Amino acid sequence: MSRSAAALRADLTARPERAASSARIRVAGLGKRYGALEVFTAVDLEVGEREIVALVGPSGCGKTTLLRCIDGLLPADEGEIFIEGERVSEPRAGVAMVFQHFGLFPWKTVAENVAYGLKLAGAAKSEIAEKVPAFINLVGLKGFEHVYPYQMSGGMQQRCGLARALALEPSVLLMDEPFAAVDAQTREILQFELLRIWELRPTTMLFVTHSIEEAVLMGDRVAVLKGRPSRIPEIIAVDLPRPRTRETLTSPRFASLREQVWNTLKDEARRAEFAMEGHERSR
Ligand SMILES: Nc1ncnc2c1ncn2[C@@H]1O[C@H](COP(=O)(O)OP(=O)(O)O)[C@@H](O)[C@H]1O
Ligand SMILES: [Mg+2]
Repeated sequence: MSRSAAALRADLTARPERAASSARIRVAGLGKRYGALEVFTAVDLEVGEREIVALVGPSGCGKTTLLRCIDGLLPADEGEIFIEGERVSEPRAGVAMVFQHFGLFPWKTVAENVAYGLKLAGAAKSEIAEKVPAFINLVGLKGFEHVYPYQMSGGMQQRCGLARALALEPSVLLMDEPFAAVDAQTREILQFELLRIWELRPTTMLFVTHSIEEAVLMGDRVAVLKGRPSRIPEIIAVDLPRPRTRETLTSPRFASLREQVWNTLKDEARRAEFAMEGHERSR
């Protein structure tokens, strides 16, 4: 199905009502093991139609594993996942993932990388010709269409990863620590870029991070994944107004929410710091 460039532009700038609605992602009683390692158990999580839920937890607690289950790439051992009311048993159209290490094809240019997912989804040539430049433009990469990943900074590569995911016009966006591999300044720029883009087209987003600040900045709610096996013992509502800006970061409310998430995670952070491979210290 092809749409005119004007319609697409209108779509990109439309501000649909941000009405509360039923969950688009529903995770119920999910558990996953790798052999003897029980990664998480009894995980319940819902993400609404136009909601960003940030999932925060220490390295190794199972964030990527949970995303891969939701993406349909990995079967869970217990529980169920529903997307738009349908049970997930394999990867499905309408769900896009952005990876920590960008996941770009090094032998493809920016335009070719962005086009790839559309081609795979069976988009017509005319649709690809119209969408690829629109989404490259949206993420600020206009003029870099014919550049290869190795010629770009990490930040630019992740903009490309974002354009590739957004070009699919996904109903669910899964983000796996998308800014963890870029430097601090670039990270901050990209956080606000993503918020700007999301404000243009709010969609269902599960944003995984190990950064408490980032979780509070991005999320409408912050889900904390912790323990062994990990669970989500607490989901914290983030009542900071949108659009969020750099001022948000300095507001007292931001500080108190960050503190609240930190208090939920701090025992876990200490345990993670002192964990030694293959040694479970007696408590
Ligand atoms: N394919 C796999 N086989 C065995 N163990 C794995 C595999 N993938 C991840 N793990 C282990 O599962 C745990 C959770 O990993 P992961 O989901 O990558 O955590 P996170 O993304 O939170 O850092 C870790 O202990 C990791 O070593
Ligand atoms: Mg991970």
